[in-house]
Amino acid sequence: METKKTSSFTGSLGFVLAAAGSAVGVGNIWRFPYLAAKDGGGLFLIVYLALVVTFGFTLLVTDVAIGRKTRENALHAFGSIRKRWAFLGYLTFLVPAIIMTYYSVIGGWIVRYLVAYVSGKGTEAARDGYFTAFITSKASPVFFMLVFLAFTAFVVYRGVEKGIEKFARIVMPGLLLMVVGIGIFSLTLKAPGENGQLRTGLDGFLVYVIPSLEGITVSRFLNVLLDAMSQLFFSLSVSMGIMITYGSYVKKDINLNRSLSQIEIFDTLVAFLAGMMIIPAVYVFFGTEGMASGPSLMFVSLPRVFEAMGAAGQVLGAVFFLMVVFAALTSSVSIMETLVANCMDIFHASRQRVSMAIGLISAAASLIICLGYNVFYFEMKLPNGSTAQLLDLMDYISNSFLMPFISLLTCIFVGWIVKPDWICQEMEASGHSFTRKRLYTIMIRYVTPIMMAVLFLQSAGVFELIKR
Ligand code: PHE
Repeated sequence: METKKTSSFTGSLGFVLAAAGSAVGVGNIWRFPYLAAKDGGGLFLIVYLALVVTFGFTLLVTDVAIGRKTRENALHAFGSIRKRWAFLGYLTFLVPAIIMTYYSVIGGWIVRYLVAYVSGKGTEAARDGYFTAFITSKASPVFFMLVFLAFTAFVVYRGVEKGIEKFARIVMPGLLLMVVGIGIFSLTLKAPGENGQLRTGLDGFLVYVIPSLEGITVSRFLNVLLDAMSQLFFSLSVSMGIMITYGSYVKKDINLNRSLSQIEIFDTLVAFLAGMMIIPAVYVFFGTEGMASGPSLMFVSLPRVFEAMGAAGQVLGAVFFLMVVFAALTSSVSIMETLVANCMDIFHASRQRVSMAIGLISAAASLIICLGYNVFYFEMKLPNGSTAQLLDLMDYISNSFLMPFISLLTCIFVGWIVKPDWICQEMEASGHSFTRKRLYTIMIRYVTPIMMAVLFLQSAGVFELIKR
């Protein structure tokens, strides 16, 4: 049964919004701001921007062009080009499968916070220990994870056009409006600091955008680079088959050049604006120390900021978490869509049945991850030195370990076996010229594979072993 070729996005805007929906997620709103805060503000921004237009662009072009040219989803795309490379398709399948298990857990946390603010309990969310008490409890995280997952499965069940595209068309513009709105509001904040000096949102904004080179060393710079690189993968949803699958739904007459640039810009803009709304706000109320809180920035520091704003903060909290729920949903939809498209292919079954089955399997797997904070609790040291629980471990395997590895293989495959021209032709298939062709060719053959190899060895802990 030929099911896959019947689905497609209706046009360029539908594709751009759906792909941007996949790209814009928790990564932009939660991960990007805390990395920027940690890694010297403007310094991180500059490094990240440089990586987007080189590495990000290369990987995104590769994925989408492979998808559109082969009209196959991730699983079979590589094998359909060269039989011996079919294994790479199966390898990409692993990444969304792993990410799905923990992304829906985080999605559940966000729904929890949204419900708290909407029901007027935002003050409780700002209390010490609220977040930890919540994620370590047994029932509540599971319940909210299931709500999040059920909604994701519903959108995927409805299909590409009526589900994914329609949802993205409604949600993405709304999301953009909210980030811009809260971002501007953030700049107008002011509050007295400990020493009585007034701290304003604009000061916070400057802390965010001006590169701080304080105490910079080569090794610190390398760390910033690595942070920015892994953020880029995660944020653009590349090298995990998702953009291949979405690419296969894009019609031939669509100008990929322009669409892909729009996706890059959208993703980067939302990340930048997310920083602009969070960093100044945290700075105004808690100074530079408040900004160093790392992953807890969104779940712990931000509720305190809303609390400090009084009644307005409660409304803002509700709008903020609504926006994050939207962002997370369009991303988890893309992850599940990739799994569903692959399984429809493997089992020759209908979208509806596969969506339900994948929904149930994901629920079971995510349940285990939820319980990773109580029943299955453990602490483990990762090769990069940080301590991980179950959820962090899954995140590490998929993002730090598998993604550079898959990208490395993809670069070797495209750069040296099928040759970059194969991709360039697809980029020009609609009759528009591929403006960054030369850059692409150099990047895919030389620069990206080397960088990916370094990243992979780094996350496998090889460099640590050598140092010892
Ligand atoms: N890109 C999404 C984000 O920034 C996350 C994501 C990862 C989505 C992997 C799909 C696949 O949050």
